[in-house]
Amino acid sequence: MVIIGRISSRLGLFKIGLRWCSAAAAPHVPVMAAETIKHLKPQDGELYIDMTFGAGGHTREILKVAPNAKIVALDRDPVAHEMAVSLAEKYPNQIYPILGRFSELPQKLKELDSHQRSIDGIIFDFGCSSMQFDEGERGFAISKDGPLDMRMDKDRDPDALTAAEILAKIDEADLARILKVYGEEKYAKKIARSIIEARFSMTRLATTKQLAELVKASVGGDTFRLDKLQRPSHPATKTFQALRIFVNNELNEINYGMVLSQLYLKIGGRMIAITFHSLEDTIVKRHLMGNVLDGVVNELPLKYSSHTISHGRDVMEAVMTSDWRQLTKQVVVPSFDEVEENPRSRSAKLRAAIRVR
Ligand SMILES: C[S@@+](CC[C@H](N)C(=O)[O-])C[C@H]1O[C@@H](n2cnc3c(N)ncnc32)[C@H](O)[C@@H]1O
Repeated sequence: MVIIGRISSRLGLFKIGLRWCSAAAAPHVPVMAAETIKHLKPQDGELYIDMTFGAGGHTREILKVAPNAKIVALDRDPVAHEMAVSLAEKYPNQIYPILGRFSELPQKLKELDSHQRSIDGIIFDFGCSSMQFDEGERGFAISKDGPLDMRMDKDRDPDALTAAEILAKIDEADLARILKVYGEEKYAKKIARSIIEARFSMTRLATTKQLAELVKASVGGDTFRLDKLQRPSHPATKTFQALRIFVNNELNEINYGMVLSQLYLKIGGRMIAITFHSLEDTIVKRHLMGNVLDGVVNELPLKYSSHTISHGRDVMEAVMTSDWRQLTKQVVVPSFDEVEENPRSRSAKLRAAIRVR
């Protein structure tokens, strides 16, 4: 029941899936650092939030140009948080490390006595860090054997289920839906069936290697696949992506993060969002365009609305009016050189905006 409740709440908001996080070798290399600083325009004495601290790459870039800036360094991952704590030791009264998710931020900011409309700039760099991806023990990587975990928060939330726990209990239809929606997996039903059947033949699906091999066997002959960038990919790539998104409730977190950035930025404050997949980018874009009602991204873009549906004036105005002025008319992508040096950046897109209302 708990799992089913989570599925409907997590899938209810976005009828779309998301990417597998890719990453270069540790330490994590910040993506589009120069473009981030160009649009953020950090100033000494101003207050910023790095919503996805990771290894602190973007935070360090801010400090290079504004050595007296103050930065709230948020991350849900205890490993990243430890890095933020050690950076804070070097910058006392300047870096404020916070362990938590976007959805926990309002409470944590209250404890820091920070209020809405008090922040000069906010950065998001979504997805996984190299530290998460490259460490087999975390269970994110197909290529590294380890426990089927995938929790960005590690053990800090006693209610959070690992991917293995979900796969041990979930029913077939729900699993197929997760694989389809979050992984855009065309063999979703087939893979879900194999995973459920495996419960009767093996004691427990417990490792990344077991899952990767099971998926590969279940898709039969179609084991040679190309990803959207025409690179060969493992047949279990989309299954891993879908599970990771579900385990971490990523899309709803991103949506809420965007709501928070609108609430906490000053008028004139700047927001930078780096996404790595069209589904993340869609959420950001719809917020920036004002295509959001009561904090919820509309399921369908307006252009797909049926001619049989007519909205009231208040709904139309709320949807058409944005609280943002976009600084990036065209989405910004990394240079050829950056992609060569840091392949993890290849699918990145950067959007920047100023809060105007
Ligand atoms: C791509 S990494 C950020 C890397 C960082 N910008 C750097 O240059 O080192 C993304 C980070 O965001 C964190 N994260 C993802 N979703 C989050 C959420 N909802 N709340 C807080 N942190 C989140 C992950 O734990 C991960 O450490």
